[in-house]
Amino acid sequence: MSKLPRRDFLRLAALGMGSVVLNRFLAACAPRTTPSAAPTNPPLPTSTSVPTATSAPTATQSPEPTPASTSHLSLETETVLLNSGYNMPIIGLGTFRLSDSQCENSAYHLLLYGGRLIDTTRIYGNEAAVGRAIQRAIDEGLVTREEIFVTTKMWTADFNDGDNAIEASLERLGLDYIDLMILHHSQPGSDVEAYQAMERAVGTGKLRSIGLSNFYTPEDFDRLANATTITPALLQNETHLYHQSMQMKDHLEQYGTVFEGWYPLGGRGQTQILFNDETVVSIAEAHDKTSAQIILRWHLQAGNIAIPGSSNPDHILENLSIFDFELSQDEMDRLTMLERNERFSDY
Ligand SMILES: NC(=O)c1ccc[n+]([C@@H]2O[C@H](COP(=O)([O-])OP(=O)(O)OC[C@H]3O[C@@H](n4cnc5c(N)ncnc54)[C@H](OP(=O)(O)O)[C@@H]3O)[C@@H](O)[C@H]2O)c1
Repeated sequence: MSKLPRRDFLRLAALGMGSVVLNRFLAACAPRTTPSAAPTNPPLPTSTSVPTATSAPTATQSPEPTPASTSHLSLETETVLLNSGYNMPIIGLGTFRLSDSQCENSAYHLLLYGGRLIDTTRIYGNEAAVGRAIQRAIDEGLVTREEIFVTTKMWTADFNDGDNAIEASLERLGLDYIDLMILHHSQPGSDVEAYQAMERAVGTGKLRSIGLSNFYTPEDFDRLANATTITPALLQNETHLYHQSMQMKDHLEQYGTVFEGWYPLGGRGQTQILFNDETVVSIAEAHDKTSAQIILRWHLQAGNIAIPGSSNPDHILENLSIFDFELSQDEMDRLTMLERNERFSDY
């Protein structure tokens, strides 16, 4: 891959792109005959040893809940080790409300700029666009499949037909396996059946990790976890400065389940509320960063994987460029004080 514009490199450097991301970008710029970077996700090994940062379980292994320490994000490697044994990038791209062409363009630029995590779902109607962006990036030598981490979700209407829903997502994405599939929403009565379909797909290697979304009480999470075999690797809930999800995050520690926030910036059409919060603005001025960067850095330091949605490549680059500064404990405390238990969505 040698066609990357020099302008992009200069923008990366000027924005202080994290070292891991910058190295990926530089690797992509270099002529290559073989994949040059270590895969974000290790290939499935044959070992049945306890998962470590460098070894993943076999596809049929049902992992025990791992110690809480594995759910801690690493700002050095820009990844987190899931209780499934796979590493997951901690900052990526959300695709909610992105049209087909916007989604393809955004996902491609994420990969171009060194990002590796893409969140989609069948109900957004853009899984195929994500697949096309991935194929283009692979064809151009920017990345290998193993370096990319794709999350998709099973929609509630599909819960009674989970096996086919998984096949259909694989088909639309054009992938042989999905890194992480999560149930889109709690739905007592059919979500256990749906989760069991995902467990079967872990057994056949079609899904690598599985988890949940929109489970908002410990009791609801326990209900699902107690009725199934594989501990959820991740929970994705609406989470931002005004709804920090502390109770759920504390509850997940015992499972080694990591936490991911949707609406990390407040959601499309509502971002100015958080961007203009005076605490955010003052911290942004102190670091010479944008409000979006401060909020996303807060997410990571607070232990939340973040998937900001964007249709704008400049924003995507900006959102990845949050590894050259650190929020102090005092700044984290001030941001934590913004908690109001207030959601932007009633979904
Ligand atoms: N599990 C669920 O039920 C669920 C529900 C909702 C969302 N999600 C997932 O979570 C992801 C994130 O949520 P979201 O996309 O709805 O909301 P969001 O990430 O909180 O906000 C997206 C908005 O932020 C803007 N933005 C992004 N980066 C920016 C930057 N650097 N500067 C200024 N504006 C910026 C985007 O505008 P531009 O397009 O102009 O950049 C867009 O308007 C979704 O995309 C989706 O993948 C999951």
